[in-house]
Amino acid sequence: MTDSIGIALLAAGKGTRLKIDTPKPLLPLLGKCMVDYVMDTTSAFASEIKAELAIGVVVGHAKEDVKSYLSAKYKSCLFAEQIQQLGTADAMRAYFNGIPSAREHAYTLIACADTPLLSAQSLVKMYRELKTKSLKAIAATFNLQNASGYGRIKRSAVGFKIVEQKDANSDELMIKEVNSGLYLVETKYLFEMLKRVNNNNKSGEFYLTDIFQENQPVEALLFDNPNEFLGVNSLVDWEIVRSQIQHIKNQSLMLTGVMIQDSKSTHIDWDVKVGMGSIIEPGVILSGKTHVGEKVTVESYSVVVDTIVESNVTIHSHSHLAGSHLRSGCSVGPFARIRPGSDFSGGVKIGNFVETKNAVLHSGVKVSHLSYVGDAEIGENTNLGCGFITCNYDGVSKFKTKIGANCFIGSDVQMIAPIEIGSECFVAAGSTITQGLKNGDFAVARGRQITKSDMAKKFLRKKS
Ligand code: UD1
Ligand code: CA
Repeated sequence: MTDSIGIALLAAGKGTRLKIDTPKPLLPLLGKCMVDYVMDTTSAFASEIKAELAIGVVVGHAKEDVKSYLSAKYKSCLFAEQIQQLGTADAMRAYFNGIPSAREHAYTLIACADTPLLSAQSLVKMYRELKTKSLKAIAATFNLQNASGYGRIKRSAVGFKIVEQKDANSDELMIKEVNSGLYLVETKYLFEMLKRVNNNNKSGEFYLTDIFQENQPVEALLFDNPNEFLGVNSLVDWEIVRSQIQHIKNQSLMLTGVMIQDSKSTHIDWDVKVGMGSIIEPGVILSGKTHVGEKVTVESYSVVVDTIVESNVTIHSHSHLAGSHLRSGCSVGPFARIRPGSDFSGGVKIGNFVETKNAVLHSGVKVSHLSYVGDAEIGENTNLGCGFITCNYDGVSKFKTKIGANCFIGSDVQMIAPIEIGSECFVAAGSTITQGLKNGDFAVARGRQITKSDMAKKFLRKKS
C-alpha cells in the first residue's frame, strides 16, 4: 500500500516584487507557464512513489486567470480560494477549508508555484527521509551565499527554527542555510500546527514556517543543489531561472546530436523537438509547437514559431517563419518572411526578401528574390521571377492566385487575383496580368517601347 499524498500548490500571492500585471504562476518560461513546471514535477513525484495524484491549488490574486489556465490543462486539479493574502500559513488554512478531501491524505506536500527548477528526485528523497525516520515534517533547505529574501534556518541542539528575513537579527541574517519553501508534512500534524500559528511578527503575516518548532520530530533537510530551489520573486530572478531552464533544454538536445553553436543566445521552447544532426546557429529562436527534423540548418537570428520543418531543410539567416510547413529539402532566406499557411513541398527554394502567406508551393518551385506570394497555389517547378507580386487584396476581400506547373513567370509581374494560370505558361517580365491563361499560353502586358535615335540629349540636363 502506498501512502496517499495531497499536493498543495501555493499560488495566491500578489507577486508584488515582479512589478508587472502578469500573475506570477503564469509567467512565461520557454513556451509554458511557470506553474506548469511545478505541476509536472509534482505529478512525476506522485507516479514515482506510485501515489495517486491529488493536486490542490490555492488561488487568490488574479484567481480567475490562474484558475482558468490550470483547469483547462489539468482536469483533476482542485482549487481553494484565499480571499486575503495574509501569509503562507493562512494560504494552507484556505487550502484545507476549500478542499475538504485534502484532510484525508496521510501526507501533504507543500510547494510554491514560483520554484520551477524543482526536481521530482528531491521530492522522492524527502519522502524517503520522512518515512525512514518517522518524522512529522521536513523542510527542504539549501545554502546560498546571498541569502537575502529567504527565511534562515536557525539550528540548535534541540532542532531548528525558520526566521524570516524581516524578523532576523544581525546574527541570524548571516546564516547561509535558507528555507526553500518546500515541505512534506504529516497531514494531521500540519492541521494541528496550523491552528497555533499567529501573526505576531514584523510582517503581521501568518507564516507557514512557524509549524517548525524545536523539540519536535521534524527535520531541515539540506540539499546541495541550490539552483533547484531558486524562487522567482522579481524579473531578475525570472531571467536567471529562465536561462537555467534553457540550459537544461539545450543540453538535452545537444546530447541527442543537435549542434547548438552558442547555447546562451539560442532560445528553444521546452516542447520544441529538433532532430539529430541539425545545426542551430547563434541567436536562433525556435518556439511554440515547432518541430525540426534531422540534418536541418537554422542560420543565425532566424525565428521559427509553430512550424514543422522536415529533414534536410536550410533556413538561411534572419528569416522569420510562423505557422508553416516546410517539407524535406527546402531552403528559405536569408531575410525571408514565411507567414501562416505556407506549405512548401520538397526542393522549394525561397530567396531573400520574399514574403509568403497561405501559399502552397509544389516541389521545385523557385521564388528567389523580392516577392510577395499570398493566397496562392503554385505548381511544380514553376519559377517566379524577381519582384513577382500576387495582388490578392482589393481593400475588402482576399482572392486566390493559382499558377500551374512548369511556368516561367518573368520579373516584376503582378497577378491581379482571383486568377488562374495554366501549366507551361510564359509570362513576360513587367506584365500586369488580369486575365487567366490556358495551358501553354504566352502573355505580355506592358506598354510598347518607343526608341528615338539621338533624342536623349533633349532630356539630359548638364550640371552648371
Ligand atoms: C517564503 C518563506 C521563506 C522561504 C521562501 C522561499 C514563509 C513565511 N516564508 O517566503 O521562508 O525562504 O518562501 O521562496 O512562508 N502565498 C499565498 N498566499 C499568501 C502568501 C503567499 O498563496 O498569503 C504563496 C505565493 O503565491 C508563493 C508562495 O506562497 O507561491 C510563497 O510566497 P512568497 O511571498 O513568495 O514568500 P517568500 O517571501 O518568498
Ligand atoms: Ca517566494
